[in-house]
Amino acid sequence: MNKEIKYALEYHQETKHSQMSIRLSNHYLDWDNKPKPFKFYTSIPSTPLPIDFPLPDLNVITMKETNQITALENPKINTELLSSLLFFSSGITRQIKFPHGKYYMRAAPATGALYPIEVYVVSENIDGLHAGVYHFCPGEFSLTRLRGGDYRQFLSEAAGFEQAVKNSPFTIILTSLAWRNAWKYQARSYRHWFWDSGVIIANLIATASSFGLNTKLITGYIDKFVNELLCLEENKEASIVLAPIGIGLSEQEPGKIQHPSRFVPDIVPISHGKEVEYDQIWKLHDASSLNSTDEVRQWVHSIKSMQEVKGIKDDSGKLFTKQIEPIPSNSKPLSEVILLRGSTRKFSREPITFEQLSNILYSIAEPTPSDFGEKKSLIDIYFIANDVTNIQKGAYFFNRKDKSIDLLKVNIRRDMSGYLCLEQSLFSDASAVFYIMSNIKLILDKLGNRGYRLCQFESGILAGRIYLSSYDQKIGASGSTFYDDAVSDFFSPHAKDKDVMIAVGVGVPGYRSKPGRILAGKFSREELL
Ligand SMILES: Cc1cc2nc3c(=O)[nH]c(=O)nc-3n(C[C@H](O)[C@H](O)[C@H](O)COP(=O)(O)O)c2cc1C
Repeated sequence: MNKEIKYALEYHQETKHSQMSIRLSNHYLDWDNKPKPFKFYTSIPSTPLPIDFPLPDLNVITMKETNQITALENPKINTELLSSLLFFSSGITRQIKFPHGKYYMRAAPATGALYPIEVYVVSENIDGLHAGVYHFCPGEFSLTRLRGGDYRQFLSEAAGFEQAVKNSPFTIILTSLAWRNAWKYQARSYRHWFWDSGVIIANLIATASSFGLNTKLITGYIDKFVNELLCLEENKEASIVLAPIGIGLSEQEPGKIQHPSRFVPDIVPISHGKEVEYDQIWKLHDASSLNSTDEVRQWVHSIKSMQEVKGIKDDSGKLFTKQIEPIPSNSKPLSEVILLRGSTRKFSREPITFEQLSNILYSIAEPTPSDFGEKKSLIDIYFIANDVTNIQKGAYFFNRKDKSIDLLKVNIRRDMSGYLCLEQSLFSDASAVFYIMSNIKLILDKLGNRGYRLCQFESGILAGRIYLSSYDQKIGASGSTFYDDAVSDFFSPHAKDKDVMIAVGVGVPGYRSKPGRILAGKFSREELL
């Protein structure tokens, strides 16, 4: 099925936004049925995680190869370290009260602040934690043990005998609880599974690197095996990515373990009323699933044999080229950068500097360590510069390989960037707006439907890095949705055949906001329900 790429192509086409689709939509938000942001098991107890965890201080955001920093000498693998990784990727950093309820904002952004991504840990015995399969609840800041025993061998086999899973002390796995985001975004929310997990992964990789822990993202695995291991409910939730943390630092060889028994523990329902299941989501998810070790191997092989597709040199219509000029930022500790982060709600229309823009571009120049390519990327980066010192206003393409920018168009009205972002004035006020694009047809031809997940996911990671790099430099950022075809048309002919995956605006915030705080362990289940 993975090879029948009509599924991904149809899904993508059917879920595009256009002026017409937005104006004709009769979808309304049923606030009484809004999904709860936390998953609680009713019959399995949870255990609080330590809140006196170490802070990721080393600022790795502007480092060239985040995974290549010298490992700290023997980083201590224990529950405190695990707590820190979980907190700085998806912990609660702000509590905001609105007339219709409280929002618990997190370390990483999330479309519509709906937080559909759940986090699981498959661990060996580490100091303070028995080997097992755990669910992480960011609200209570606790772990719930779903299975006892060391399941890393099973997980490794599900991922085509992936060594990194076996020789890391634990693997963090992200899943999506589909209804949480579909409540607002309907079938288009499948794209958000990958956006929202990508931005969490950007924080997770930065945090792990700050502690000197190597990671590698694994996207090739037998979906069903991993979903069963995590006790997920079919057609309601599904795994997205495995991230073994601390590769090479496991102290125990995982033994053989039986195929885990199937069970789905009861949870507190996330909505009071009916949950709508969107067929388009599950059709594509099934069509992009891998069902056997052979399929995993084929997938890994197709990725390895895939030619570089990023940054295809295209000089058509290029008006001018300039090298980017990153300069070391004043490197705040990473923990401070993550706590500062929050999506900017108003930009002041002041310019950002070319060096700030260069630093952001530099932070997204390198691919992410993953099974989808140590050196490959599926993504191309375009942007509109509304107000950046030392460069002309206009539309640009970023040559990630050469670290240069090509000016493609001039005389762009400031409201164009906002128009492309679904007519949101926030993105007209931004000093620069990035449009992360991909030639999905080319990628699907090589990788099948699963390639679609990857394009969206890699874009999410890059969006997460743009956020971090912006806040590192004391400017702001916000992700955005967009009118799909209008973005392709705007950047054509250069972007001919490319589709936009995510947009992100950056600029100087038009207000002062308080940094977030470490709110781990501050809320009880009763309060959160
Ligand atoms: C991929 C992505 C797309 C987003 N799209 C929009 C958008 O179109 N408009 C908007 O105002 N905010 C957008 N946001 C920002 C979210 O609304 C914001 O992350 C969420 O409310 C949580 O707040 P925080 O980022 O301040 O923690 C987006 C965020 C992400 C990660």
